Amino acid sequence: MTLLSARAARPGIHRGRRLRRSASLRALVRETRLAPAMLVAPLFVRPGQGVREPIGSMPGQDRLSVDELAREAERLVRAGVRSVLLFGLPEAKDAEGSGAWAEDGIVQSGVRALRRAVGDELAVIADVCLCEYTSHGHCGVLGDSSVDNDATLPLLARSAVSLAEAGADVVAPSAMMDGQVAAIRAGLDDAGLADAAILAYAAKHASAFYGPFREAADSAPAFGDRRSYQMDPANGREALEEVLADVDEGADMVMVKPALPALDLVAATRAAVGVPVAAYQVSGEYAAICAAAERGWLDRRAAALESLTAIARAGAGIIVTYFALEAAGWLREEGR
Ligand code: PBG
Repeated sequence: MTLLSARAARPGIHRGRRLRRSASLRALVRETRLAPAMLVAPLFVRPGQGVREPIGSMPGQDRLSVDELAREAERLVRAGVRSVLLFGLPEAKDAEGSGAWAEDGIVQSGVRALRRAVGDELAVIADVCLCEYTSHGHCGVLGDSSVDNDATLPLLARSAVSLAEAGADVVAPSAMMDGQVAAIRAGLDDAGLADAAILAYAAKHASAFYGPFREAADSAPAFGDRRSYQMDPANGREALEEVLADVDEGADMVMVKPALPALDLVAATRAAVGVPVAAYQVSGEYAAICAAAERGWLDRRAAALESLTAIARAGAGIIVTYFALEAAGWLREEGR
């Protein structure tokens, strides 16, 4: 029987409240369940020792020295979170972003420390982009008039190889250069790193919601903006083209970013591809909830869990979120 004819056959009014009467009934019929294992914690690695440097625009988040990163990883494992996404603040920057592929680079050191501390307990994902490492803050090398796509590809591939060699399970290209997934796959395979997986930031909008991240990672472009390589937030069909292109190029998983402003794309991506779909609840989404909660305008926990549930409901099986550690604790408490 179709849904419509079933409804027509049912006499009287629709009694939707019958199954909302108690917490146990609501739990029984809940369609979307969050679990700590689907959460990925983004972490920022910086030089130094014993340093936890608070990030002003992201309350509760710190830039961590490598030793503190290992301690944070142990905390995440205890809470049931199974994956981290690493970003780096290098000691120095240059025009090419060479810190991104340095063997003793900041994220490379972080990856090795994580492996020593927690072994395989955490899946280690390393962001692959040049913006944290270039003196001009763009995601690739500069050409005559803008970022040079094809000159950037070998540098991204080199970074990915170096991160996988350090022990990253997954590399996550976020530069929005055309062909970056294919270039990275070829680079990894040529280096004998066929087991390293690629999580492609496939549909990534040029979003105002990345603002706090750029303070956190010191990666704001020194001039101009990223609209010549990141996507126009007005475009959904184009986002799907990006997703399909990345799957064709060899992406093992695809990501939509930001999350709440792009839930339609999360759902469309889920329907269009068979690979795991991730969504990134970005820095501005996190900061907005934190700021409103600090003013007493929103309940931090309820707003965070509702947003994460909505992102999962839209179709994301993997959610990158700055709430990861906290949310894992809340989920345990609630026994969801
Ligand atoms: C690197 C990168 C950015 C984010 C993830 N990877 C910044 C940007 O594209 O400007 C944003 C993440 C966030 O806002 O939490 N390109």
